[in-house]
Amino acid sequence: MKNPILDTLSRPLRDLRISVTDRCNFRCQYCMPAEIFGPDFAFLPKEEVLSFEEIERLAIIFSKLGVRKIRVTGGEPLMRKELPSLIQRLLKIPGIQDIGLTTNGVYLPKYAKELKEAGLKRVNVSLDALNDEIFMKMNGRGVRSKAVIKGIDAALAHGLKVKINMVVQRSMNEDEILPMAEFCRKKGLSLRFIEFMDVGNSNGWKLDQVVTKKEIYEKLKSRFQLEPVEPAYFGEVAKRYRYQGEQTEVGFITSVTESFCSSCTRARISAEGKLYTCLFASEGYDLRALLRSGAKDEEIAQKVADIWNHRADRYSDERLANTHHPRKKIEMSYIGG
Ligand code: GTP
Ligand code: 5AD
Ligand code: SF4
Ligand code: SF4
Repeated sequence: MKNPILDTLSRPLRDLRISVTDRCNFRCQYCMPAEIFGPDFAFLPKEEVLSFEEIERLAIIFSKLGVRKIRVTGGEPLMRKELPSLIQRLLKIPGIQDIGLTTNGVYLPKYAKELKEAGLKRVNVSLDALNDEIFMKMNGRGVRSKAVIKGIDAALAHGLKVKINMVVQRSMNEDEILPMAEFCRKKGLSLRFIEFMDVGNSNGWKLDQVVTKKEIYEKLKSRFQLEPVEPAYFGEVAKRYRYQGEQTEVGFITSVTESFCSSCTRARISAEGKLYTCLFASEGYDLRALLRSGAKDEEIAQKVADIWNHRADRYSDERLANTHHPRKKIEMSYIGG
């Protein structure tokens, strides 16, 4: 079988994003609004979630198809018991060059040491505001920014590299753009501003709530001198800049105003083992059923290759061109961002 395999738009399969749980200790309004993900919400029962053995097996199969980079996500991945042991196993897979973890940071004081010992090198921590009133409103659980900052500090103290993700929503946390930039710059942390996206069906997304890269960039330019940084590799998601004369960077994830589908090399596996070839997909392929039916690795690899070969997804490009069709999408907390 070819390695890497290519889709209909000649995009190779290079990255695998694995959601290890659909649960989260936050209820971010843009992802898992509390009104919908309330106390009675039916999360996946344990037996429906892929085991570490199943995840490892899939990761090995995907690595043979060309995957070089794995991202562990959720929900909140650190809510999954013994996550560091999974990281350790994934890092041993031949061909895997990079493993990332995307987390809200609250459990990092507890797990940073173990994660580092497991071999993890870096984490992406979500933090949408420093101001507690705003942050508490956004995370839907009354968590103060200090709790996340403690997590960031724990990660740094144990030698993990940290990037910060900030989703910017109009009339919510726009005023936090400059304070967050100052905060991250002082700490030498790379901050990425993310345009609010229409993932899932429950966040009530409207175009006018998107604060665009252009607006954020203008705001930053009023205070800082920025210079562009060349992409580090084909398909890099963030557009990066550097504070002039410094090493510290800021980035923009512009899924809405400058889509990046033409270089999208990412496959996603949800917590219950479905394969999605786009963040905005409505249907996934049930790899768990295949795994649990006793299929051989070659059979699973062939199926994944077939799916990837037929892949034509370019949702964000279509949204930008206004040629997309409204459809029911999978929730972010299942598919893992
Ligand atoms: P790095 O390897 O550190 O560059 O990670 P990353 O930026 O790919 O991962 P992270 O989980 O930190 O994601 C940051 C944001 O980018 C999240 O809001 C993701 O949903 C978004 N994102 C990542 N991949 C894609 C993608 O393929 N399409 C779209 N539309 N958004 C994406
Ligand atoms: N739009 C943009 N980013 C989102 N994230 C979650 N939901 C959305 C959305 N609707 C971000 C999280 C996290 C990353 C994995 O995805 O804040 O940083
Ligand atoms: Fe949890 Fe992340 Fe979704 Fe917020 S964005 S609810 S932290 S999974
Ligand atoms: Fe990839 Fe879909 Fe995102 Fe486009 S919208 S970059 S195809 S995941």
